[in-house]
Amino acid sequence: MTDRSCLSIILAAGLGTRMKSDLPKVMHEIGGLPLVGHVLKALQAAGSDRISTVTGPDMPALEKLVYDMVPTARCYEQTERLGTAHAALAAKASLEFPSDDVLVLFGDTPLVTSETITMVRQALKNGADLVVLGFETKNPFGYGRLLARDGQLVAIREEKDATDAERQITFCNSGIMGFSGEHALSLLTAIGNDNAKGEYYLTDAVEIANERGLKVVAVRGTEVETQGINTRAQLASCEADFQRRRRVEALESGVSLLAPHTVFFSHDTVLEADVVVEQNVVFGPGVRVAKGAKVRAFSHLEGAQVGSDSVVGPYARLRPGTVLGPDTRVGNFVEVKNATFGSGAKANHLSYIGDASVGSKSNIGAGTITCNYDGYLKHRTEIGAASFVGSNSTLVAPVKLGNGTFVAAGSVITDDVQRDSLALGRSRQVVKDGKAKQLRARLQAKKDAKS
Ligand code: UD1
Ligand code: MG
Repeated sequence: MTDRSCLSIILAAGLGTRMKSDLPKVMHEIGGLPLVGHVLKALQAAGSDRISTVTGPDMPALEKLVYDMVPTARCYEQTERLGTAHAALAAKASLEFPSDDVLVLFGDTPLVTSETITMVRQALKNGADLVVLGFETKNPFGYGRLLARDGQLVAIREEKDATDAERQITFCNSGIMGFSGEHALSLLTAIGNDNAKGEYYLTDAVEIANERGLKVVAVRGTEVETQGINTRAQLASCEADFQRRRRVEALESGVSLLAPHTVFFSHDTVLEADVVVEQNVVFGPGVRVAKGAKVRAFSHLEGAQVGSDSVVGPYARLRPGTVLGPDTRVGNFVEVKNATFGSGAKANHLSYIGDASVGSKSNIGAGTITCNYDGYLKHRTEIGAASFVGSNSTLVAPVKLGNGTFVAAGSVITDDVQRDSLALGRSRQVVKDGKAKQLRARLQAKKDAKS
């Protein structure tokens, strides 16, 4: 990693008209994180110590995201959209104090990796004054083409301004550029708008740098990581590429995925080694699964931690605030929300456990429900260690069950149960000998009388 300082400017002022959405384009999500959030993460991982984001007018949610993710970031508003160079200059105040490296990136290019950003920075460290990240594509239509000669990048030609011969070029501009801090502001301010679109093109910095005798190079990234998003279809295809990448990373880090293409990750999913994930599992944001745990088929997890060697599912739903200790079991059709399970605790079948704590080695019987909500407020259920809650019990919160308690099946528990006590909250069974036979005879007689 280079020890040079780095200012990054993310262009995110576009409305994304083709998304047909009320959201600014860069706020659409991939892997549960807005597009621009991915760029912020990659920049941080690549050691960019200053980040400026150029937003459009009235994009408070975008500004909030940027400040939440990078509290030291700056946001600048581009009030009129006059082109990519004009957008970069909206952050002029930060360019007046340039870092060693100045990167300009697009907020709608979420799959760019920190390794690739580092490669751009490395080229600056090696003496380039301007670096452009390019990529090869079979379909160059719409992209700026890179015109190189003897290792020097001499120009970028936009589609609308290119000659037929230039349009044949398949090496294209990704939109990611690196400037040496020394030249950044002066190159950007020299850019004019004398072109087919009448816009200030960032890409013109290449020709201006050449006129000044500066060293300009192109480095090569992949088409997948440099893809930009303009439409919902591109968003969906980028999501698919993101998922493919995450699946490969999981497999390489020692996780077994029985059917990788049916497992869906979030940007921050953490699966430790020897985790096994069966078919059709969805990880929403904020999930961590410790080593040796198994997530069985058709489970949905979000905001949840699963302890080592636990088994979740099949058909389990873990909602935010779930913390399962080691060796726990959460079985089929069990929903857990904002609840902790101590080590070895089990809820194997058909339960709702919400706003609760379940002590270690406790067993929650089939059909147990914590009644955590009275229509106004949420209340907690606390179950001690080594307790047994019989099937089809209803625990009406707030309620506490001590260690070693035993709740009889079918109970409605409204009062606290002290340690090692047996609680029965159900009506007593009555058996009347021979009465069933009599009842049947009476009912049959009634039916016969009607016909
Ligand atoms: C740009 C590049 C092109 C490259 C392509 C890669 C220029 C002139 N062209 O073209 O060489 O191959 O990206 O996808 O740079 N933006 C603003 N304010 C503006 C204009 C743009 O913030 O006034 C932002 C947009 O929100 C977007 C990014 O800059 O995130 C790129 O703008 P866009 O209009 O998509 O440029 P392209 O025509 O795709
Ligand atoms: Mg574009």
